[in-house]
Amino acid sequence: MFEEGAFLKKEHGAGNVYDFSLGNPNLQPPENFRRALQNMVTSLKEGGHSYMPNTGYPHVRRSVADFLSVEQQVAIAEGDIIMTCGAAGALNVIFKAILDPEDEIITPAPFFVEYGFYAENHGGKLKPVTTEPDFTLDINAVAAAITEKTRAVLINSPNNPTGQIYSRESLFELGDLLNARGKELGRTLYLISDEPYRKIVYDGREVPGLFTCYNESIIATSYSKDISIPGERIGFLAVNPNASYREELLGGMALANRILGFVNAPALMQKVISSIQGACVDVSVYARKRDLLCDGLSDFGYEFVKPSGAFYLFPRTPDPDDVKFVRALQKELILTVPGSGFGGPGHFRIAYCVGDETITNAMPGFKRVMEKYR
Ligand SMILES: Cc1ncc(COP(=O)(O)O)c(C=O)c1O
Repeated sequence: MFEEGAFLKKEHGAGNVYDFSLGNPNLQPPENFRRALQNMVTSLKEGGHSYMPNTGYPHVRRSVADFLSVEQQVAIAEGDIIMTCGAAGALNVIFKAILDPEDEIITPAPFFVEYGFYAENHGGKLKPVTTEPDFTLDINAVAAAITEKTRAVLINSPNNPTGQIYSRESLFELGDLLNARGKELGRTLYLISDEPYRKIVYDGREVPGLFTCYNESIIATSYSKDISIPGERIGFLAVNPNASYREELLGGMALANRILGFVNAPALMQKVISSIQGACVDVSVYARKRDLLCDGLSDFGYEFVKPSGAFYLFPRTPDPDDVKFVRALQKELILTVPGSGFGGPGHFRIAYCVGDETITNAMPGFKRVMEKYR
């Protein structure tokens, strides 16, 4: 999709191609990020570019822990945090530490397409399970998928590609299930929450804290989306302070961070984010884009669940073959991604972290393609 997009842009001019294919935030980072970055660069002391503890600078982990303690309503210490190269780095470090060969990771579909590769990187297998028609958790589907090989359930809320948020009740239910089945199987079943979109939520919605729902839980996240710095590769993982094997987990993950080749998260970015905890782009701008897109598409007969968070829309395709439908949109120079790649066939993903004019100018094309199915 990326390659074809580049080709189409060359042929037709970038302004005439409506590229909704990537989750690359189009908003500029907040002003306090830029100020903090300038300050850090001008005040760097000797040793500012050196190796550091593999888990990250202690003062940075402390500031993350303080912020997270309030967010999760659990006392979290600097020792519970490891700074990582984005959420992707955090997930790979977690999998490296907890997976034995052939271990299974259950994930509700649709899901972020890289999860399967991350699991395979460390000898594991991703096991997608269905969700409810509105993409909320189907606890029975998770229950039915648990076997003696299950090691973890991986959730992502707000979700890429659906924008759905999982409720506190459903997380408690999931926690109870994992507790009961873990005891039966004599195996710790982890609940991993990948949450880089936590702050990008609409209509007053909130993302419930995981740590009060289940003790054997781990958070993986980043600053990529909420402050628009995905190229800087900065994120962290946090282990629930009440996890049974807290120390072993953190020890294994500290080693994994080193031996997977990251060594540590980028030094400068660690310092910058530690001074702006809680920063976020203006989410109302994404809310406006969401409404612009949803209002336009529903007028043309597209069907979808209105997203509560993140910056993706996951409409149904009027054609059962989602790849064919995405090709039809491509003929209108509209680039989207088929849902089957996310384990959600019969849908397609629109990333609306783009300029308003891209959304507005793509509308006639979206209309024409839908009209062919009427
Ligand atoms: C659900 C999800 N998890 C993880 C990532 C990776 O995030 P990062 O760039 O911070 O590693 C992404 C990026 O798009 C994502 O959508």
